[in-house]
Amino acid sequence: MTVKVAVLASGRGSNFRALLESIKGGRCDAQIRVLITNNPDAQAISVAKEAGIAVETVQRNDFADRPAMDDRIKSLLDKYGADLVVLAGYMLLLKGKRLLEAYRHRIINIHPALLPSFPGVDAQKQAFDYGAKVSGLTIHFVDESLDAGPIIYQEALDISGCRSAEEVAKKILAREHEAYAKVVDSFSKGSYAVEGRRVRYVPRG
Ligand code: GRF
Repeated sequence: MTVKVAVLASGRGSNFRALLESIKGGRCDAQIRVLITNNPDAQAISVAKEAGIAVETVQRNDFADRPAMDDRIKSLLDKYGADLVVLAGYMLLLKGKRLLEAYRHRIINIHPALLPSFPGVDAQKQAFDYGAKVSGLTIHFVDESLDAGPIIYQEALDISGCRSAEEVAKKILAREHEAYAKVVDSFSKGSYAVEGRRVRYVPRG
């Protein structure tokens, strides 16, 4: 069954674009219903517009606090009928209890390192500066923690030959684009692995 996706992004939107291309190419059985962004200058907005996808901007300054902002995001997800929420470079932590509870195991994030190593921002630079020889990417469910929800998928990459943090980021990003679409597609097959168990994936009614 085709997965109904909402994408949350704050910036460049290359993962968003790659996901759209995989869908177009028949490699990912999903339909992107809406892009939600907190940044009116995000390049991701032009990606959405080119593809004819609805854009909703939800800005922090328009709300008393972050839970109130996340309540608005939850009502948009409900409105667009999202089964799966794909964070693709969304730079704010989700703090709304109502949102996190209603969409538990339906919000996924991609992180450019092998968690629990190098959480937070600039993960590729953290790995390079640390002298790590292996890093990679992690796709995980989002919960109240910072980059520590249940892991769905990981891929390790040899970065020993990289000469800069930028080179590390480039190497990881190319794999992010493939891996994220594969994981989103796996939801369309009706089940996924979480915390070592197979869990049935049921679309919202
Ligand atoms: C990616 O490196 C992703 O892993 C991280 O944010 C970056 C987003 O890049 N969470 P883009 O906006 O998809 O190009």
